[in-house]
Amino acid sequence: MDLISIRDVDTKWILSLFASASKMEKLARTGGKSLSGKIVGTLFFEPSTRTRLSFQTAAARLGASVLNFGPTEASSLAKGESLSDTIRTIDGYVDAIVIRHSLEGTARLAAQLAAHPVINAGDGGNQHPTQTLIDLYTINKLKHKIKGVNVHLVGDLKYARAMHSLVYGLAMFKANITLVSPPALEMDAKAVSEIEDEFGVKMEKRNSLDASDCEVLYVCRIQKERFADQYEAAKLQKEFQITAESLKGAKNDMIILHPLPKLDEISPEVAESDKVRYFEQAAYGVPVRMAVLERLIKK
Ligand code: NCD
Repeated sequence: MDLISIRDVDTKWILSLFASASKMEKLARTGGKSLSGKIVGTLFFEPSTRTRLSFQTAAARLGASVLNFGPTEASSLAKGESLSDTIRTIDGYVDAIVIRHSLEGTARLAAQLAAHPVINAGDGGNQHPTQTLIDLYTINKLKHKIKGVNVHLVGDLKYARAMHSLVYGLAMFKANITLVSPPALEMDAKAVSEIEDEFGVKMEKRNSLDASDCEVLYVCRIQKERFADQYEAAKLQKEFQITAESLKGAKNDMIILHPLPKLDEISPEVAESDKVRYFEQAAYGVPVRMAVLERLIKK
């Protein structure tokens, strides 16, 4: 099995993964041996802190070794070797491939080329399925359910793969989704209506924040690397900031999640508030990815 899109799995699969991840929380501290002797290849062609390091931690905590590819300049890609040949070669060394690339579809291509399981750690603005599993796991842990929870997705809904994956995952579980972004960064209307039809949900669309009915505020940064016009990205980054003022009227138990990295879309004052739970969310990256690796890698 590969994990390329959150569409590759269903609620039953996700709930059973949550059960494994919950057991992994202890092993994420003490370590286990279920993948001892296995090798996980991590191929990151875009910057990453959490995804790369939590996959590597997850592998190590299960007793597997990590083969980290990169930097590109030190590999035969610098001599002009193709990405396809690089993937085929690494597939001969490892038991699973975790790949991130700026081009949409790269992980799917890798899955077609590789005999071993491939996990998409982000392909351009398209998908980031393990981030969504972590996000859903965090919501389920902190709110004790996903169905019916009021989740506001706030920020760059046009380019952020974390949002593109999560909206689908939330719809699968029938959360109440509100999409909040500047007009220039709205989610693709066709994609939204397809998801609405598929799961029989209706999403609310807003161009400004009103957190009064919000239980989970899920924020992401403006994805400036996917903008053709950097001036426009910088302008939107400044305009769309979550401040104490913009959160007036929010419920006491509203939580703020973020896939991270955060820049200045969250004001320093809000970042210090006890609503912020994104470092806990980032920490769940290890048990959730341990559960994913254990499920995908053949014993
Ligand atoms: C996200 C990504 O790379 O898509 N980061 C992550 O994996 N936690 C979010 C982002 O870069 O904004």
